[in-house]
Amino acid sequence: MAHVEHETGTRRDFLYVATTAAGVVATGAVVWPLINQMNPSADVQALAQIQVDVSAMTPGSQMTVLFLGKPVFIRRRTEEEIAQAAADDEANLPDPLARNVNLAEDAPATDANRALDEGREWLVMIGVCTHLGCVPLAEAGDFDGWFCPCHGSHYDKSGRIRRGPAPENMHIPVAEFISDTVIQLG
Ligand code: FES
Repeated sequence: MAHVEHETGTRRDFLYVATTAAGVVATGAVVWPLINQMNPSADVQALAQIQVDVSAMTPGSQMTVLFLGKPVFIRRRTEEEIAQAAADDEANLPDPLARNVNLAEDAPATDANRALDEGREWLVMIGVCTHLGCVPLAEAGDFDGWFCPCHGSHYDKSGRIRRGPAPENMHIPVAEFISDTVIQLG
């Protein structure tokens, strides 16, 4: 019985997150209101964790969840997307750093350093444009990755900035698979 209650609570939490995320997507180009000075304190961040069930995601789909007041994109990439992202390792990358807090600060911006899993199928990143904080749109822009319409920043299929005013690749949060189908953020 206790197990069932736990399951229900988890699902409800998940639906809440998903619903919130839909709102985030719908707002599109609206500037994300939570900028640095409004972030939770380090103490709160250290405690905050959420688990996301990704079992229903098919290749080529993306989910947006709200975590610590920011949208987080979770994308399950297709073979083609992975191949394109890997090929772009050789491209001229304006930001040479992976921006992945799970790795060393100076880790280079290869696709392998940004993907969550060894197969590079999963890309998890904070869905906030590194220029002035808008929420980029998926499957858009010159590199078919993400496009920020606020001032025209183009990100590739690895979430790396390729063209436009954004100075950094989209950031990768603390994330890991804690089972075959569940990603933990934080
Ligand atoms: S906020 Fe994204 S390009 Fe300016």
